[in-house]
Amino acid sequence: MTELLAADAPGIALAVSLLQAGELVAFCTETVYGLGADATNPRAVAAVFAAKQRPRFNPLICHYPDQDAAFADVVPNETARRLAASLWPGPLTLVLPRRPQSRVALLTAAGLDSLAVRVPSHPAASALLRALARPVAAPSANRSGTVSPTTAQHVLDGLADRIAAVLDSGPCPVGVESTVLDLTDHEPVLLRPGGTTLEAIEAEIGPVHGASSSGVLRSPGMMASHYAPSLPLRLDAVSVSVDEALLAFGTPLPGAGATFNLSPSGDPIEAAARLFVGLRVLDATGPVHGCKRIAAMPVPSAGLGHAINDRLRRAAGPR
Ligand code: TXA
Ligand code: MG
Repeated sequence: MTELLAADAPGIALAVSLLQAGELVAFCTETVYGLGADATNPRAVAAVFAAKQRPRFNPLICHYPDQDAAFADVVPNETARRLAASLWPGPLTLVLPRRPQSRVALLTAAGLDSLAVRVPSHPAASALLRALARPVAAPSANRSGTVSPTTAQHVLDGLADRIAAVLDSGPCPVGVESTVLDLTDHEPVLLRPGGTTLEAIEAEIGPVHGASSSGVLRSPGMMASHYAPSLPLRLDAVSVSVDEALLAFGTPLPGAGATFNLSPSGDPIEAAARLFVGLRVLDATGPVHGCKRIAAMPVPSAGLGHAINDRLRRAAGPR
């Protein structure tokens, strides 16, 4: 049963304890309802992808109560500081280099070295984020491929019984998602138009790329910068040799030079939570053990297995 909570002090306190326990809680922001999880808990983040039935691991936005909290997880440049000072809190998401010491789970940004951060202005969102005092990963609280929810009822229509609770604060005032701006390059790039107008952004920082009349935006899911291991990757391994590092699922194959087990019990949610960590660990330790490639055991294509296999296929594909 998904609990419908009022966004008052007791409701927010309950939402905080659910999030601390690794549960999923939908909450109102000024743009759309977000499906929130403790961003530092990889299993909770994996559960977000499972609840949304996303076919692949799109990177998620991290939500913070204020600018200082946000900039503790990413490295802001001058452009980011200027935009944050004038347009936060509000419907603007900034993609910036993730700090290596950040506690945000690698799965949150789907293994990227960047992180999307946002400080929402809705009072219920602010109260929740302040009380939790941890970053909250939150995509829109709908099933993949359906429209974003702007009321608590919309959230229940799509996700009832798949999440612990919804904090109901009525309809979202903006009603479209946040504007996503990539600031990881020299030139800012608009990844998604949204609640903050381009005019407001350009008034602060000058012309923005990607906002061309052609309407062609860079598609984050297709980004070449998506983390791929530097070791070559072999899929669907049914045996393994000593010069290979094994990405195991279930009972590991014997004979590998190094092994990282995504889930000894064969649980796809646990495997998703550990996928990007596992690729990085094998990439770093494999060569130390004389491994020339990573061999990945098959993961059944059910539930999060689809997204895991999508990610592994891309990592194994031509560079
Ligand atoms: O208004 C919003 O942004 C809502 C509320 C809940 O905050 N959230 C939302 O999340 O719309 P979602 O997951 O539906 O969309 C996030 C967008 C996607 O287009 C994703 O690819 C992009 O942000 N994104 C997230 N992290 C990124 C990153 N590290 N690099 C590039 N794009 C990123
Ligand atoms: Mg969405």
